[in-house]
Amino acid sequence: MADRNTDPWWRDAVVYQVYPRSFADADGDGEGDLRGVRSRLDHLADLGVDAVWLSPFYPSPMADGGYDVADYLDVDPRYGTLADFDALVADAADRGIRVIVDIVPNHCSSEHPWFREALAAAPGSPERDRFVFRDRPNNWRSNFGGPAWTRVPDGQWYLHLFDSRQPDWNWRNPDVVEMFEKVLRFWLDRGVAGFRIDVAAMLYKQEGLPDLPADHETAYLVPDGSPVPYEHQPELLELYRSWREILDSYPPETFPGRRGTVAEIWFDDAARARPYLAGDGLAQLFNFRLMPTPWAAPDFRAVIEDSHRLAAETGGSVPWVLGNHDVPRMVTRYGVDQALVRAPTPDVLLGRIDVDRDLGTRRARAAALMLLALPGAAYIYQGDELGLPEHLAIPGDARQDPMYERTGRAFIGRDGCRVPLPWSGDAAPYGFADRAVRTWLPQPGDWAELTAERQRAEPGSTLALYRAALAERRRNPALGDGDMAWLDLGPDVLAFARAPGFALVANLGTAPAALPAHERVLLASGPLDGPLLPPDTAVWLRTAPRSPNPPAVRAGEPR
Ligand code: NOJ
Repeated sequence: MADRNTDPWWRDAVVYQVYPRSFADADGDGEGDLRGVRSRLDHLADLGVDAVWLSPFYPSPMADGGYDVADYLDVDPRYGTLADFDALVADAADRGIRVIVDIVPNHCSSEHPWFREALAAAPGSPERDRFVFRDRPNNWRSNFGGPAWTRVPDGQWYLHLFDSRQPDWNWRNPDVVEMFEKVLRFWLDRGVAGFRIDVAAMLYKQEGLPDLPADHETAYLVPDGSPVPYEHQPELLELYRSWREILDSYPPETFPGRRGTVAEIWFDDAARARPYLAGDGLAQLFNFRLMPTPWAAPDFRAVIEDSHRLAAETGGSVPWVLGNHDVPRMVTRYGVDQALVRAPTPDVLLGRIDVDRDLGTRRARAAALMLLALPGAAYIYQGDELGLPEHLAIPGDARQDPMYERTGRAFIGRDGCRVPLPWSGDAAPYGFADRAVRTWLPQPGDWAELTAERQRAEPGSTLALYRAALAERRRNPALGDGDMAWLDLGPDVLAFARAPGFALVANLGTAPAALPAHERVLLASGPLDGPLLPPDTAVWLRTAPRSPNPPAVRAGEPR
């Protein structure tokens, strides 16, 4: 029996990411808000998620969708008030849903009062020391494109690993450490179950800020595995340990268990993640590695095997992720020529690409069953439960992501996965607001069939599939945290068993595949072909508990 105080609830939780600006708009201004989230909590309760992670809703000039925070202790008026936040946490708790908030500690907004003070103060002043000001820049590049330094009128430069309106904090300054402790306590006092930590590997920069090799590309959205002097500095482990102490000083209230953290750290190489997981600071590290994986069983298997081994060896939690607000939606990723996923061309970066939406949808549905059958926790990005595709056709002048301009418009940016959700009706705004409004990003004209309302009424919809999978996950003891064993069903089939008596089989090939012996099909992502599993389809099977067939290979063992 789990101890109420220490239960690490996050280890098999399914967490739903809400991007507040695009979830639901209660005040009818074309942008989502916290009252909108509250009004749609029943959607999340019906879906059956354990927790909600809210992307930033803090006061912000929105230079980077709110990841440019001007005040860490308030709600942006466009999203509502602190009272709305409290009401949201309470309403979510009534439905058994925890709330996690996003903390953005690498940088703030250039409108943050401390940065304004720093600009007004002299070079060498304590105000400037809270940021990274230098007389000369080094050669680091912004993760959004362009240089990572901007010059101020007195000739000094400040560092921004992202947009110029997102100055990096100096984590070696005690004011910064203390300020963020207050931020954690402020939201913990308001009942949050934990934090998603933005850019969690970059807070400390190597002393002396050494130059990068001249040909360096960004290490952020395209992880290259090579160490860079603004990532993985040893001080981070100590910092996250101190945050853990703060979190653990909050006893369980509404929900059992400790408060959690999930860190945004892009790693390719498990060795990079190991120190964080083996340490006693962070509860979870996102596992983003399935997102860029092309639709091929050996590729999926390699990532799953390596990630599962990492979790098993460290005892850490590395939740699976197939979508978020930074990455093209999976229907679109899986609906294009997979050679382009392996090696994106300039046209791909500009969204000039043929998408087979039916194919992408079939695969995304199969991938969802895989995601929710894997051992451990999973994160679902809003709209993936509706099978939304990326909106590629946003006109250039409507695009908001700073990456679009900072890359000289060589990359269309991340707006296509941030489009306001379609809830009901036949035309934009599809119930996103209850009146005709111009939404902050335009919605496509062909989303009528994808609305939550429409899908609620359709037994075979993607929404129905997610709900059924989450319901099964709650009642089936084989699912959630634990171990897995590969089933060898040929090179194009991804199959694994979970004890007792469960198997996932996904056909990533082009020919129908035979299913292993089973008692019953619990769930299928699409129609079966008699006894065969068609391509781009996955099933959950109930198998005989004691006799897996064919013989299982344990995860991590060579085949
Ligand atoms: C990661 C966030 O997910 C992304 O949206 C943001 O642009 C960067 N961090 C910078 O905060």
